Amino acid sequence: MNYRHAFHAGNFADLVKHGTLILLLDALTADAAPLTVVDTHAGAGGYDLDGELARRTGEAAQGVFRLMAADDAPAAFDGLKAAVRRGNPGGGVRFYPGSPSLIATALRKGDRYVACELRDDDVALLAQTLAPFHGATAVQTDGFAMAGREAGKGGQLFVLIDPPFERGDDYARIAETMAQVLLLDPHACIAVWLPLKDLETFDAFLRSVEPACPDLLVAEARLKPLTDPMKMNGCAMVIANAPAGLDAGLTSVCAWVADRLGDAGGKAEVWRTGP
Ligand SMILES: C[S@@+](CC[C@H](N)C(=O)[O-])C[C@H]1O[C@@H](n2cnc3c(N)ncnc32)[C@H](O)[C@@H]1O
Repeated sequence: MNYRHAFHAGNFADLVKHGTLILLLDALTADAAPLTVVDTHAGAGGYDLDGELARRTGEAAQGVFRLMAADDAPAAFDGLKAAVRRGNPGGGVRFYPGSPSLIATALRKGDRYVACELRDDDVALLAQTLAPFHGATAVQTDGFAMAGREAGKGGQLFVLIDPPFERGDDYARIAETMAQVLLLDPHACIAVWLPLKDLETFDAFLRSVEPACPDLLVAEARLKPLTDPMKMNGCAMVIANAPAGLDAGLTSVCAWVADRLGDAGGKAEVWRTGP
């Protein structure tokens, strides 16, 4: 495993993923039922954008730095902007929250968060990030398997799937995991982050998931036309059992990212699969 999220923290794809994540957490925690969150690929928990790894790529310059400086960001980004400000009490944008910080902060009394990470270095950082949060646990284990183990235990279940896509079987394992979780808990909300490289790969993934989840909410932010399959031309969130009322927020998140961070061929679209 070579992937380290520190190289990419706070980039445009994180804005789409984390903007969506906060909208989902707001909706799920509005329901009184206790919530279990499984973060199958949690990473380090939070990131120092002034650190060596983040500075080597500079991806946050076309991501969270632009968002925090913008005066035209939609209200759907308010939660993420507030989280960034909380992480930088002295001002500036040095520390960026990963999905674990965002999820752990949203937990209510009685909610649980299982954050899975395989790498020794990142799981150690993850454990540090989560130490102050009651109900949140860092586990060094395969997140796909953990999602299946947590399904069907009662209460609300939310699974975030955010693999590095450095293995050839990541798409197949996502589809298998979604099917397994939904078999055990047909109401589980599952949100998957995907890179958009070419349409064929994305369509094939949606078709592979369709038998188990015929009704998906799909939010796409394309920075450019999907003509070069070797590049990440955009990204998407694909959500099973999305809570009601999410579409407008997702549309404004994706539209801002595509318009402000993409080129002239960029576009955003939020749509549903199924009949
Ligand atoms: C894209 S990063 C996660 C970023 C994180 N979700 C966030 O938004 O802050 C993917 C992480 O998954 C870890 N990983 C890869 N395969 C895994 C697996 N099967 N189970 C758990 N973690 C895995 C990688 O080491 C990497 O840290």
